Amino acid sequence: MADTLLQGKNLNKRFGGVVAVDDVSISIDPLEVKCVIGANGAGKSSLFNLLCGAMKPDSGELVFEGQSIIGLPLYKFSRIGIARKFQIPSVFDSLTVGENLETAILGRMSSAEVASKTADILRQINLGDIQDQPAGSLAHGQKQWLEIGMAIMSNPKLLLLDEPTAGMTPDETQTTAELIHGLAERMAVIAIEHDMGFVRALACHTYVMHQGKMIVEGDFSDIENDKLVRDVYLGRA
Ligand SMILES: Nc1ncnc2c1ncn2[C@@H]1O[C@H](COP(=O)(O)OP(=O)(O)O)[C@@H](O)[C@H]1O
Ligand SMILES: [Mg+2]
Repeated sequence: MADTLLQGKNLNKRFGGVVAVDDVSISIDPLEVKCVIGANGAGKSSLFNLLCGAMKPDSGELVFEGQSIIGLPLYKFSRIGIARKFQIPSVFDSLTVGENLETAILGRMSSAEVASKTADILRQINLGDIQDQPAGSLAHGQKQWLEIGMAIMSNPKLLLLDEPTAGMTPDETQTTAELIHGLAERMAVIAIEHDMGFVRALACHTYVMHQGKMIVEGDFSDIENDKLVRDVYLGRA
């Protein structure tokens, strides 16, 4: 297991009487893409919050590159290489696409480094043609991609995405799946998702959550045909 990038073991998180995350284990290797799906209320965002350091689990282990990271402050999660994008986009509408990316730079860079880094990320998120447009003029899908770009300006080793295709058209959803596979040449990605079309397009190792528990995992093609998953999730959707 020396190659494992992030490992969550027996994670638990309650909110009052609600067990949002119930004994969940999950792991990811460098440059791997994985997905977590589940119906609304399954506990996906709560798990996401535990993995990105926004919340501390009540119990369980969280190990990144062999070191326990439970209880580290949030800024240290980003410093060790865990980046995240929440469900709701929060780009600066009055700044251009390029300027938005520049706001996400951590630490010092020369202006030449800023320019080359920004150009590199613009290419990865397919927004190079519109880097001088104000972010407020972007389509919803483009705003989501811009925010992914902002999250990866710090060269993370792991990118966590909470419902990256929420509100996207089927075409945008497909493009997002391709974009994520491109990102995985440089980093591992865990996408938390509700949308089956996206998970199908992503075609990766998938975990299924239901009522706080991880009930099944496997390749999406197997998950899609799993009787239990169909009953608790697909059947109801
Ligand atoms: N901050 C919170 N305070 C209280 N209850 C919460 C909080 N966050 C999530 N929950 C509850 O935990 C359960 C799982 O929610 P969530 O993790 O948001 O699921 P999902 O992202 O799969 O829709 C739900 O019952 C939700 O109401
Ligand atoms: Mg959620």
